[in-house]
Amino acid sequence: MQVSAVGPDRELKGATLIAGVLEGLEPLPGNEEILASVDERLISTAGFEGKKGQVLSIPHQEAETLLLAGVGEEASFQTIRAASGNAIRQVKTARALSLLATAEVDDSARAVVEGSLLGGYQYRSYKTDDENASKVETVEVVTEADLNEASVLCAVTILARDWVNTPAADKSPETLAHLIEEAASDAGVDSEVWGPDRISEEGLGGLLGVAAGSDRAPAVVILQYRPDGASEHLALVGKGITFDSGGLSIKPAASMEEMKDDMAGGAAVAAATIGIARLGLPLSVTAIVPVTDNAVGGDATRPGDVLRPVQGPTIEVLNTDAEGRLILADGLGLARRFDPDLIVDVATLTGAAKVALGGEIGAVFGSDRETAARVLEAAQAAGESFWEMPLHRGYRKSLDSNIADIKNISGDRWGGAIVAALFLAEYAGEGPWAHLDIAGPARSGETAGEFVKGASGVGVRTLVELARGMARAG
Ligand code: BES
Ligand code: ZN
Ligand code: ZN
Repeated sequence: MQVSAVGPDRELKGATLIAGVLEGLEPLPGNEEILASVDERLISTAGFEGKKGQVLSIPHQEAETLLLAGVGEEASFQTIRAASGNAIRQVKTARALSLLATAEVDDSARAVVEGSLLGGYQYRSYKTDDENASKVETVEVVTEADLNEASVLCAVTILARDWVNTPAADKSPETLAHLIEEAASDAGVDSEVWGPDRISEEGLGGLLGVAAGSDRAPAVVILQYRPDGASEHLALVGKGITFDSGGLSIKPAASMEEMKDDMAGGAAVAAATIGIARLGLPLSVTAIVPVTDNAVGGDATRPGDVLRPVQGPTIEVLNTDAEGRLILADGLGLARRFDPDLIVDVATLTGAAKVALGGEIGAVFGSDRETAARVLEAAQAAGESFWEMPLHRGYRKSLDSNIADIKNISGDRWGGAIVAALFLAEYAGEGPWAHLDIAGPARSGETAGEFVKGASGVGVRTLVELARGMARAG
């Protein structure tokens, strides 16, 4: 899909329009004229009241079809984005879809672009018929706003969604690493992929321990974006488990169903780095993604085994299903070598984060409150839902190991997301660090607004906004 701007003297012929409508059928500013041209009875007979989630498609003499999308009582970035997503899914085909944005809501043009591009997303690689595919060629927005920016944000969010939606069989660690490398090189980002030999030479014992149960070799992807004139350096680390069976501490069948998603953090940091480069933001970014299966094999790490990550405490593995923290220990260790100003890791780390915050909100932990606040501010700017959780040091002693420096589980299930974050803190160093647990929102349970059932691409836009903030401050 192309996104373009059409001027105020817009040509409506052949286009479909979305008119955001408030509860009680008040048109959003800018949409009065077009709404006035519609027979009100058509609208009321259909029962359309402008409620959140409602969409009405009606024939129109000027535009081919007029789509009315309800935004509910409050016109905001979020409600307009959701309404645009709901509306675009009602359009089967369109040469162009024109969207009216309102000047009275900040970033309303970005809201309609994000809503339509992300809400209109379809993952069809494994569908054999094209019958149900919708085809909207162009989205046109009536506004002066910077559409390039919005389309870059959506394109990289979709890149992450595609990687996450890919079945595990078709994304071996090596394949995924090369997909990331290819996308990065298209954006002018330097990349390097380490295979098993280099991983052994470097002594990434956490990653090797998790990979030991799989016939597919692990990989590490290192992306480096180094623009001229950058003063700040952001390091990103993402969990890249291509399939999490749980290992010998095997998961029950139902919990395994969605475990191809377990590389969503890695996808988010790689896609964000590509987005930052495409936008030309003036800061340095290093992204590190350790990639491996967590499988069951004759050589798999056993509960009670001890691993030596590249730096930091030795780890007694008591549950092989707490594998994300093992590969992130190495990822964080590598990130520290670059001496960045801030490290952020993103991971589908714990079921406990999903229990605490549900499927729509991600958890943020910070080495200090100010660092967490910076991430939350970026999430706010991106329109993604995150909430701060406490890095409560009192729980650290629950990770004391009998035979090694630390163990990978606490022994009970309470505060599991916090305990996992405390484990990572051991490897994040002394500088500012934030940890995003996206186990809940990595996957959308249903299609609604800008979300489509399946991978959400969560985190990508928040990281780009975080980078934008750092570049501005630096
Ligand atoms: N990948 C899972 C976490 C997860 C759960 C992601 C649900 C998405 C949805 C992770 O590797 C895991 O299995 N964590 C264990 C940790 C436990 C053994 C301490 C968990 O959360 O149960
Ligand atoms: Zn696991
Ligand atoms: Zn996992």
